[in-house]
Amino acid sequence: RVTRHYKFNIKMQNVTRLCKTKSIVTVNGQFPGPRIIAREGDRLVIKVVNHVQHNVTIHWHGIRQIRSGWADGPAYITQCPIQRGQSYVYNFTVVGQRGTLWWHAHISWLRATLHGAIVILPKRHHPYPFTKPFKEVPIILGEWWNADTEAVINQATKTGLAPNVSDAHTINGLPGPLSNCSSKDTLKVKVKPGKTYLLRLINAALNDEMFFSIANHTLTVVESDAVYTKPFTTNTLLITPGQTTNVLLHTKPNPPNAKFAIAARPYATGPAAFDNATTTAILEYKHTAPSLSNTNNNLPLFKPPFPKFNDTVFAAKFNNRVRSLNSKKFPAKVPRTVDRRFFFTVGLGIKKCSKSEACQGPNNTRVAAAVNNVSFVMPNTALLQAHFFGNSKGVYSTDFPANPPVKFNYTGTPPKNIMVSSGTKVVVLKFNESVELVLQDTSIIGAESHPLHLHGFNFFIVGQGNGNFDPKKDPQKFNLVDPAERNTAGVPSGGWVAVRFLADNPGVWFMHCHLEVHTSWGLKMAWIVQDGERRNQKLPPPPSDLPKC
Ligand code: C2O
Ligand code: CU
Repeated sequence: RVTRHYKFNIKMQNVTRLCKTKSIVTVNGQFPGPRIIAREGDRLVIKVVNHVQHNVTIHWHGIRQIRSGWADGPAYITQCPIQRGQSYVYNFTVVGQRGTLWWHAHISWLRATLHGAIVILPKRHHPYPFTKPFKEVPIILGEWWNADTEAVINQATKTGLAPNVSDAHTINGLPGPLSNCSSKDTLKVKVKPGKTYLLRLINAALNDEMFFSIANHTLTVVESDAVYTKPFTTNTLLITPGQTTNVLLHTKPNPPNAKFAIAARPYATGPAAFDNATTTAILEYKHTAPSLSNTNNNLPLFKPPFPKFNDTVFAAKFNNRVRSLNSKKFPAKVPRTVDRRFFFTVGLGIKKCSKSEACQGPNNTRVAAAVNNVSFVMPNTALLQAHFFGNSKGVYSTDFPANPPVKFNYTGTPPKNIMVSSGTKVVVLKFNESVELVLQDTSIIGAESHPLHLHGFNFFIVGQGNGNFDPKKDPQKFNLVDPAERNTAGVPSGGWVAVRFLADNPGVWFMHCHLEVHTSWGLKMAWIVQDGERRNQKLPPPPSDLPKC
């Protein structure tokens, strides 16, 4: 087994996009940040040193962190932030996972500029269960704001008004030629004819689920969230923030003399977020004939067609096609029985703010987001420390509701009282309990989709549907054979998803919407998984450099 060392210096860097230069928070001055490469089974030791004014933590999104919860990274959940001048070493092993994941800052909105790819190769002599690619290309979708993103979110949490949308979407940090002043800031992917490429896609956007497509080419999905899938071919992908997808691109044997747009565009999470911002990169063939030289910039550019705005039918169909490979070597270990059942509503409401918050809605209120009507309040110290050392008093309570406090027609007329409650509440699970969780979108202030992300586990998406979940009929249709195994599930706008997971990883695990604005408004909660009886079922004590609050 190999140990791989990385050093992340958090520092400011001037970056120019859309003809404007601004100082952004980066890792090692790079944007997007450095790529981490490991093999399944490797240990990663990443020293993060904070040189900036902001408090920082880094999360290794999708890494299971089996008995290494101290390295997970969400601020105030598993650790206190790393303050200026301090450092923290994230030390963990990649167990039973291979594929594409990513890392990002996990405090306020710093992940806008603090993110990068994690490429996990299979163990040596364990080939991919698909055509060996000629080359691999990580592709990170992101968003760029001309303004300071911390100011954008501060505004949105005060007012409860939708935050300003980004000024551009980006591919590997570059907006592409359709954006103002950006023709030079365009990613070019140069390919050879008749080869197979593996594109490692990551949606690192803050607030937009994205369509992704390459003009005149089809894509074969082979992996999602670092789990192999049954291969399927599509013209367009849907990928939510937090999700990763590997696709094979077979290049044309005799390509025409043209360039092809690699394009991404928001699916839209609500009318206000739809800004029609398409970002493009260029797929360019390296022709052998000099007459077809790729230096010719006047080649025609083909653009891909996209599904229509907010195409829920496309989204549902696409998500349904994602299935675990479920082969002999990679079986889908779907929990067959269920020990604990939960039904969580996820959506928006109105919150009464405390005096110190000074919210700008009527009577000191603002729009909030909640799970089972609880808008999560961040504690002042990390939940994991409080749990581990038995100091939960005044930090969190264990009465997170297993069901919505009031039943109503979730996707119909909203109830009269749309006030949410606030609190730092968690669910406690015993080691190895098997959990079934239904996530139901509510249409209280408009239906919206919510990419729900669970730390510390992959869950199986055993069912999904439109409208209200029917506890009698819908479970009969659950797929317990080859459901998608992911760390982020798109709860459809005006619909539901059902997931199952086995609580075999002791620690405190955050679950939240991966749209930053919804997280900031409170669409988040945490699970505590208790230690098991045996020694290898317990969370070890924290490392000595764990930051203090
Ligand atoms: Cu990608 Cu809790 O995050
Ligand atoms: Cu959401």
